[in-house]
Amino acid sequence: MSSRIAAQAKLIEDSAGRPALLLAWYDRHRRWLPWRAAAGERADPYLVWLSEIMLQQTTVKAVGPYFEKFVTRWPDVAALGRASLDDVLRMWAGLGYYSRARNLHACAVAVLRDHGGAFPETEEGLRALPGIGPYTAAAIAAIAFDRRTMPVDGNIERVVSRLFAVEEPLPQSKPLIQQLAATLLVPSRAGDGKSRAGDEKSRAGDSAQALMDLGASICTPKKPACALCPLNDDCAGRARGDQETFPRKAPKKTGSLRRGAAFVVTRGGELLVRSRPERGLLGGMTEVPGSEWRAGQEDDAALAAAPAIKAVRRWRRKAGVVTHVFTHFALELVVYTAQVPTRTRAPAGMRWVEIATLADEAFPSVMRKVIAHGLDI
Ligand code: ADE
Repeated sequence: MSSRIAAQAKLIEDSAGRPALLLAWYDRHRRWLPWRAAAGERADPYLVWLSEIMLQQTTVKAVGPYFEKFVTRWPDVAALGRASLDDVLRMWAGLGYYSRARNLHACAVAVLRDHGGAFPETEEGLRALPGIGPYTAAAIAAIAFDRRTMPVDGNIERVVSRLFAVEEPLPQSKPLIQQLAATLLVPSRAGDGKSRAGDEKSRAGDSAQALMDLGASICTPKKPACALCPLNDDCAGRARGDQETFPRKAPKKTGSLRRGAAFVVTRGGELLVRSRPERGLLGGMTEVPGSEWRAGQEDDAALAAAPAIKAVRRWRRKAGVVTHVFTHFALELVVYTAQVPTRTRAPAGMRWVEIATLADEAFPSVMRKVIAHGLDI
């Protein structure tokens, strides 16, 4: 055993009280969220599944109104399974990553057809359904069925990597973080020898949601509020004083710099947007029109990709550039703006959206930067 793993094992051993502290904190401070059951009550698997699919790559704030709309229209999985895919896609519009909506519908159909309208209760059974990967299966199994398993999302990765001062960078550290996160579950009851891992009942769902809430409200990426944390007494990161530097991340392998242009066109209080193709980078998300992103692309070539709008006589180039680093490459965008008269039509495949409601659109971060730069907001 390496000395680092041995030190972590010691930390685990020394803090057997953590699971109980975490649950006690959750009982007092849990967030109210529309898909959560009241304290001590059983969560509805349909609501848990629907929320977990919606929450993939999407914030709690953005999901809220969509969740309410879906549940009002389709109150149970059978109703959703009988809905048309078109209706589901229409209701999903604006939430992005549309393959999630297709899988959501396919999953509801499968639960209705193959499982009599009841979700399977094991991770294995759940994973066999469309759109349910290992994280989502663990989340549903823990939250809806109290299976003793720990789903590890980005929030939980941060909390756990700080608690145990995990030096190994992500993503290599994922298996270790998974193991360490599982130590925060209440220990399984001394069994009769028959129980298998993941089978016994526990408050696993509450433990997982406690870590999610802790990550969202206290153990935040910047300036964590350690004084309020129920686990602060034996947090290795805090003891060292460098808690904010976790989780460690492997340096990004950035490919060559790609360049392009983005066009911020306004019509009164509206902005011209389009949806990205379903497949590929940022699939289905909303963007302002723009050129392709290519290494070495000259500004003139990128400007030639401006949307064809007769009312635009001149594109104004904003000073500066917007930069963004994706996993595989860095991007530099030149931003052009134009204002057009009220009755100007959107070019084919594009649409106008109210600037006041931009927060409801599924813009990726790079587009939020572009829009802020183009509109000076
Ligand atoms: N993110 C993903 N699942 C969540 C949940 N159940 N509660 C809060 N945030 C979440």
